[in-house]
Amino acid sequence: MFSILALALLPTAASFGLSPATFGVRAPTTALSAKVGLFYSTTTGNTETCGNHIAEAISGAGLSADELTDIADGDDFGSYDSIIAGAPTWHTGADSERSGTSWDSWLYDELPNLDLKGKKVAIFGCGDQQGYGDNYCDAAGELYDQFKAAGCEIVGMTSTEGYLHADSKAEVGGKFVGMMFDEDNQDDMSEERAKTWVAQLKGEGIF
Ligand SMILES: Cc1cc2nc3c(=O)[nH]c(=O)nc-3n(C[C@H](O)[C@H](O)[C@H](O)COP(=O)(O)O)c2cc1C
Repeated sequence: MFSILALALLPTAASFGLSPATFGVRAPTTALSAKVGLFYSTTTGNTETCGNHIAEAISGAGLSADELTDIADGDDFGSYDSIIAGAPTWHTGADSERSGTSWDSWLYDELPNLDLKGKKVAIFGCGDQQGYGDNYCDAAGELYDQFKAAGCEIVGMTSTEGYLHADSKAEVGGKFVGMMFDEDNQDDMSEERAKTWVAQLKGEGIF
């Protein structure tokens, strides 16, 4: 009984003006988070599906990005610290403007007029590695070339292991320029690929 009373009456350190720092304990610091834009375009919906997997992986990991936005509706790119950008590829026989979507005019007409120098950019692509094995995800390679030419830092390069394509403009130095998805042949792998990639992007400081 006596000891319980004594404990209850013990003065707290604070009442003597002692702070946690006095005891060498640091108050937790709040890490600043980057403003991340998440953009896509699509013709039949597959790149949007993969974009949604990425958005879910981001929130599932306790991270944050602006909501998935069609590049046709995107603006104010200068306000982002980092950009995640995804495009499909449609074979047209041409060398460039192969997404067949709003990316084509944005990449070549708008991006060169924007100051995105130094921003981190992570690229994802959506294609068909079996049906179009000589041109798998070529448009993702165009995103790489154009963002790089604009002075952006490309992050999130991945291994080409596990893919069956013969050739791709999205391959640079033996690696993919980002995460490549294939909703035609490997849709069961998309969710896991998104999760793995988001963890990689976190490690590369995009958030
Ligand atoms: C006519 C046609 C051309 C295509 N050309 C390519 C191509 O060159 N490279 C590629 O990787 N995929 C190609 N694809 C596959 C699409 O990129 C793939 O289905 C993708 O998931 C479509 O994405 P989206 O639904 O977001 O538009 C082509 C598909 C069709 C129907």
